[in-house]
Amino acid sequence: MLNAHIITIVNQKGGSGKTTLTMLLAGALADTYAKVLVADTDPQNSSMFWANRSAHFPAEVKDFSQAPEKLTKRIGKRIEECEFILIDCPPHASAPATENALAISHLALIPLNPSPLDLHASLDIRETIAKATPPSRPVWYSTRPSLKHA
Ligand SMILES: Nc1ncnc2c1ncn2[C@@H]1O[C@H](COP(=O)(O)OP(=O)(O)OP(=O)(O)O)[C@@H](O)[C@H]1O
Ligand SMILES: [Mg+2]
Repeated sequence: MLNAHIITIVNQKGGSGKTTLTMLLAGALADTYAKVLVADTDPQNSSMFWANRSAHFPAEVKDFSQAPEKLTKRIGKRIEECEFILIDCPPHASAPATENALAISHLALIPLNPSPLDLHASLDIRETIAKATPPSRPVWYSTRPSLKHA
């Protein structure tokens, strides 16, 4: 029986690299693991767009953006059949999708551009993560690591 590791990619700052990190990580994990699911919880559906533009995206990408209050239940139905579930969040710290995703996650990845303004605009997400039960483990991930801090 499989029991998915759930990773949420989150930051209320728009355009910080959530979808790009989600999809690159999903593709890399799918090289090794057969059952990788991307849950696209952003109504903008960028992960869905990415997958639909790919001839053979190696992971399953599914639209979970409708009825975010049902996210926990819907993800729960997939836990035993997946090895990894990656949740791509909308750019809102207190959206139901973000809060529900963090509550069921083992790990939270927070991509951000390495600038003081981007860091400042991203800090509120820590409170949402702190409120999540059980606690997710946040990891800050710079989307452009070669750039120096201003
Ligand atoms: N590591 C990276 N290096 C350079 N550019 C990047 C990197 N990650 C993402 N980008 C670019 O930054 C832009 C925003 O990326 P992306 O759509 O993944 O962000 P997002 O956080 O999902 O945005 P949104 O909040 O709108 O959902 C895109 O043009 C993408 O190509
Ligand atoms: Mg996105």
